[in-house]
Amino acid sequence: SIDISTFMKQTGYTALDQGFVNTASTRSAITFIDGDKGILRYRGYAIEDVAKNSTYLEVAWLLIYGELPTADQLGEFDEKVRRHTLLHEDLRRFFDALPPNAHPMSVLSSAVSALSTYYEDSLNVRDPEQVEISTIRLLAKLPVIAAYAHKKSLGQALLYPDNSLSFVDNFLKLNFGNHAEPYEVNPVLSKALDRLLILHEDHEQNASTSTVRLVGSTEANIFASISAGINALYGPLHGGANEAVLKMLAEIKASGEGVEKFVERVKNKEDGIRLMGFGHRVYKSFDPRATLVKESADEVLAALGVKDDLLDIAKELEAVALADDYFIERRLYPNVDFYTGVIYKAMGFPSRMFTVLFAIGRLPGWIANWREMNEDPMTKIGRPQQLYTGSEVRNWPQR
Ligand code: ACO
Repeated sequence: SIDISTFMKQTGYTALDQGFVNTASTRSAITFIDGDKGILRYRGYAIEDVAKNSTYLEVAWLLIYGELPTADQLGEFDEKVRRHTLLHEDLRRFFDALPPNAHPMSVLSSAVSALSTYYEDSLNVRDPEQVEISTIRLLAKLPVIAAYAHKKSLGQALLYPDNSLSFVDNFLKLNFGNHAEPYEVNPVLSKALDRLLILHEDHEQNASTSTVRLVGSTEANIFASISAGINALYGPLHGGANEAVLKMLAEIKASGEGVEKFVERVKNKEDGIRLMGFGHRVYKSFDPRATLVKESADEVLAALGVKDDLLDIAKELEAVALADDYFIERRLYPNVDFYTGVIYKAMGFPSRMFTVLFAIGRLPGWIANWREMNEDPMTKIGRPQQLYTGSEVRNWPQR
């Protein structure tokens, strides 16, 4: 037997599969999805079990190294990540060079790209020790960079990480603490954020992960590859959807047009509008992450004593859409992004930070995929073909 690409090459055919709807770009042992049945597993473990029983760093270990860590392994990993949270002082000043209204996703991707200038050892992608230390640096520093992007947008002073705190608690303090008063972490908030991050940790060959692999296949260092992944995540059809959902809910509220009317406009494809947070390339029955996020939305808002009309609008939108033939026929269901924005808002994050939170969540998956790609002897530089549609050869005009 020969693989399809060898067959196509021998027979002179080129397959056109725009959007890679039916083309595998790689083999992978990290994450399994059955989109028809709404199944998602990390290294064989059901997402429902992972989300209820684990922590962000434990899941990161699972994704990156393939097995659940022992208590000692996890303790050592946690300790290492805490030890590497500090940014070089020059990199802290890097934030001053950007405009005050810079979108935090642009700040994030730029600062991650800049990390490779401080850690040139990462250029040696074939050295396992360098890959290991870069992994720890990324996990430790991305949340700090993200919190600085947030603080910068508020015009507030940047705090130093408090390494006596857990991963998530440290992140919350960096975002919501200040120099004037002590910051008490709310355990409800901490638990809920940890859970949301876990739900985002990996999702096989989505646009950003495929970008990380494609850039990595050129033997570019891991910081450059992940910076590219962050930029791919930025778009509203991918990670940017969580920010877009909240904007959509707020616009529905402000316009007073009502949910039914809005859904009609979506169905008529007025100005190309879509129901943001709905639909998925792979999930065609339900997104299991969305089910878990919806549960969290109710719990978190109740625990924080927040009442948000936008949650009611989201629920009404979901009910109207799920009963409508347009959405039924196209198998469009809420995806992970539909309810996350409402929770992040209740936690106090501005909407421009939502996709940044997704990026922190997705980081372990990007790292695991980059490492799997880097260690696989079958990896080749990614280089898609094209079908040329331009003109035939032309004579240069006499002028
Ligand atoms: N609202 C309205 N109609 C939609 C939506 C939507 N959210 N999503 C798809 N459709 C319609 C399309 O218009 C198309 O209709 P048609 O057959 O009449 O032309 C049909 O459903 C198929 O849509 P495609 O764009 O071909 O589906 P694809 O698999 O390429 O896109 C995607 C998937 C990008 C997620 C799409 O559903 C979408 O744009 N959703 C809204 C944005 C969003 O929530 N993105 C987050 C995805 S999850 C994530 O990245 C974490």
